[in-house]
Amino acid sequence: MVHRRWLVTGGLGFIGSAFVRLALRERSDVAVTVLDAMTYAGNPANCAEVAHDSRYSFVKGDIADAARIDEAIGEGVDAIVNFAAETHVDRSILDPEAFIRTDVMGTHVLLEAARRHGVDRYLQVSTDEVYGDVDHGASTEADPIRPRSPYAASKAGGDLQVLAYHTTFGTPALVTRGSNTYGPYQYPEKLIPLFVTNLLDGEEVPVYGDGLQVRDWLHVDDHARGIAHVLEHGTLGEVYNLGGGNSRTNLEITKELIRLTGRSYDDSVRYVVDRPGHDRRYALDISKARALGWFPRVEFAQGLSETVGWYRERADWWRPLKSGEFRDYYRRQYALR
Ligand code: DAU
Repeated sequence: MVHRRWLVTGGLGFIGSAFVRLALRERSDVAVTVLDAMTYAGNPANCAEVAHDSRYSFVKGDIADAARIDEAIGEGVDAIVNFAAETHVDRSILDPEAFIRTDVMGTHVLLEAARRHGVDRYLQVSTDEVYGDVDHGASTEADPIRPRSPYAASKAGGDLQVLAYHTTFGTPALVTRGSNTYGPYQYPEKLIPLFVTNLLDGEEVPVYGDGLQVRDWLHVDDHARGIAHVLEHGTLGEVYNLGGGNSRTNLEITKELIRLTGRSYDDSVRYVVDRPGHDRRYALDISKARALGWFPRVEFAQGLSETVGWYRERADWWRPLKSGEFRDYYRRQYALR
């Protein structure tokens, strides 16, 4: 019996679709409306396994389109969970404007809709990148934000609006800040899916700079569970960090992926010119989310090996994505490196 309806914006993307699959699998009283603009990263195949569930519905639309949002909210929505965003740092260096439009303006339009319709909860899915480069220790939610890429700045702009709406208008809002996320259904432009699919195809992998930058890896199912947990149990107006606790250099990740795909270092690794303004290290303190009752469960070695296994099995999913738009992007991004 359905008691709650959640509007999940960006629900055809990587983390959004994991959240939708989890919500329908683990909460029998929840119905989900997915709104997605179906840009390059919004893929109907990501929700195919729940598309026939009577509690699932889909609206094609952009979060910056207020009329479309009103339509999607329709008869009533209890919560809005906003995953919709431009998310790739390298793309934000090529084309910052798209990031401002979706991550800043889109968030504003959604917050206005939340006000008009009086939803019970608005959750903004954000990122540890808003804290900027952290050379030692771990970022807490009370730390100042110091975004350094156009992407991180656009997400920080979204976060600040959400928190300001809570303060000014009493919008019942929450923010989660996740660390680097990996797992099935991730569009193959980010480090792990790009490298795995290149390696499976016998191609080289482009390591930026010295490869000693550090990221903290979180499995997508843990991330999705964390967002659902904060949505249901978080204190309004608060920010919650969701990190995996798996700090690795990019080179460590690369070597592990080479091992898991049975390739060799010498044939695979190509060091290329570094990303401009590249953040050296991110690290999250997750005590606040732990105190709320969430913690990451997926063991990293197993999660990574299963992820490689998934990409090995699901070439039908990623191979079409690596043609067309992706080829143009790859040329623009890597040709001059
Ligand atoms: O930390 C959370 C963030 O993680 C999310 O908010 C972003 O949406 C997500 O893209 C990710 O940002 P990163 O810039 O850390 O992820 P990316 O996969 O692009 O890169 C991870 C690291 O790998 C980074 O240090 C850059 C490096 N890298 C990446 C690519 C695509 C390479 O060395 N070569 C590459 O070709």
